Amino acid sequence: MCGIVGYIGKSEATGMLIEGLKSLEYRGYDSGGVAVSDNGRLQVVKAKGEIKNLRSKLRGNEPAGHLGIGHTRWATHGAANEINAHPHCSPHFAVVHNGIIENYKEIKESLAMNSITFESETDTEVIPKLLELNYEGDVLDALKKTIKLLQGSYALGIICTDEPETLYCAKKASPLIIGLGQGENFIASDINALSAHTSEAVYLDDGETAKITAHEITVYDRAFSRVEKEIKKINAAAEKTGKAGFRHYMLKEIYEQTAAVQKTLLSITKDGEVCFENFPYSDSDIKQLERVYIIGCGSAYNVSLIAKYNFEKIAGIAAFAQYAGEFRYEDTPLNGRCLVIAVSQSGETADTLAALKKAKGAGTKTISIVNVSESSISKMSSYNIQTLAGAEISVATTKAFSCQLAALNMLCLYIALRRGGCTEVFSEIAVNMSLMLPKKYEQIFQLENQIKELAYEIKNMDSCFFLGRNTDYAAALEGALKLKEISYINCVGYPASELKHGTISLIEKGTVCIGLVSSEDILNKTVSNLAEVAARGAEVIVFAPRSMAQSLARFGKVISYPDSIPLLNVQLEIIELQLLAYHVANEKGLPIDKPRNLAKSVTVE
Ligand code: M6R
Repeated sequence: MCGIVGYIGKSEATGMLIEGLKSLEYRGYDSGGVAVSDNGRLQVVKAKGEIKNLRSKLRGNEPAGHLGIGHTRWATHGAANEINAHPHCSPHFAVVHNGIIENYKEIKESLAMNSITFESETDTEVIPKLLELNYEGDVLDALKKTIKLLQGSYALGIICTDEPETLYCAKKASPLIIGLGQGENFIASDINALSAHTSEAVYLDDGETAKITAHEITVYDRAFSRVEKEIKKINAAAEKTGKAGFRHYMLKEIYEQTAAVQKTLLSITKDGEVCFENFPYSDSDIKQLERVYIIGCGSAYNVSLIAKYNFEKIAGIAAFAQYAGEFRYEDTPLNGRCLVIAVSQSGETADTLAALKKAKGAGTKTISIVNVSESSISKMSSYNIQTLAGAEISVATTKAFSCQLAALNMLCLYIALRRGGCTEVFSEIAVNMSLMLPKKYEQIFQLENQIKELAYEIKNMDSCFFLGRNTDYAAALEGALKLKEISYINCVGYPASELKHGTISLIEKGTVCIGLVSSEDILNKTVSNLAEVAARGAEVIVFAPRSMAQSLARFGKVISYPDSIPLLNVQLEIIELQLLAYHVANEKGLPIDKPRNLAKSVTVE
């Protein structure tokens, strides 16, 4: 959470910083701020709320200078107000920070005993204060002494009044990238903030610090010895971050699923076969696997749960979906015959990263499914399957989710074939049918008006239940999460069978219950559960494949989607649930791409 940027070079820093912050706003939008150095004179401007507020405050009043740092905040310590907004300063330093300083209280108390006072409630403010205390004219030395005292996570951008030509940065467990330009250099939390200006970058590793001028970059390791870093090309796919005529990023990204899923599938299949280049595990390793754990947070957990059912059904292996934040603190028995699959769009989610680290430490086999290349999770796993969704800006994930599901399905088939869980013919049909999904998405997009009308009818509901069994239960969780996160309606995903064990007492006349039925196997069972809530006055809306719509006609509203095979129907169902969530929130006039209290990438625990 939080996004940081920094600039040193030939242009005016303020404009560059604001532009960078705009593209990082998905990481938090509680407040924004910049510090610009004009030959050593620091000017700091902050504003509560989105970056547009900061921009308005700066209009006609932009601080001059070619060196600066900027921040967009997702509040962790202290309210979302201007005082707590970054940059935080001391007489010589201005600092922006993404992460959490876990021992800030202890540091604050020690500094207070030395009569050092604080303005804000943030954990970050201890950093400029410590830098000041440790500063004797050598910034690197002050940084070395300061960093040694910090526990927790940080990506830091730092400027000092005595060095008007130098930008400093440091990283531990929060992402930080240095963008290389011609006579100018940049730092940012991710490549979206850099790709308009540079095609080359250096990815800092944990414990590294860098000293950056307009023409030179020097990176130091934990011991502050110089290290050579590889210069990497920035992926051009990350560049297209505009709304392309759509009202919101979310809708644009829903529509982009056609290309994103196709691209992801084509990168891991060939002539109807799943192929993972340089896969690290042999067929015999796969045969010997005892259990698979699929871990993630939020939507990444929901997609993991869909995969759990598929791994058990098709690959015949015991599979468990776990919330990464739970998994990391559980005493799950793990060994070399366990495979842990970490799923993440950003590749930076703190809980997923920590859970993966724990799994690695226990000697398990590890695979990640990550959208952002060079991210911490992709680098930590033994093998990464990269989803090719491109930059996902809307906080509510859509295209990354669908690509994750496509990749998990392919991994499931790959493992199933090697364990004798399915035949080559089954696998080939599943691969080919998967490649036909994008065409079916197009057909779903033709139904958008029908879904829009439904959204209009239900937009004023107080709560909504999503009910399904097996993979439909996992889809129910995702449908509920999507709708609640952007519409602020209390939505719950439930196993259809569970309702009558307590929750059915909440059902009354007019309660909206969305039933998901994607497979004949469970059709009758889920239908009985939906009949139970209908009998108690619920308004039941069912999402089902076209071929089943007839048998569900007894419920007032059935939204159908094109038929596929049972493995893939849920992948179509999800698209309709995404559209429903989008249109409900749109009818309510809510800030769809930046829902309140949220940030896209949750890099704190
Ligand atoms: O970047 P990740 O996929 O690891 O993020 C995990 C969750 O924070 C994310 O899926 C979140 O639940 C989405 N906002 C849901 O739309």
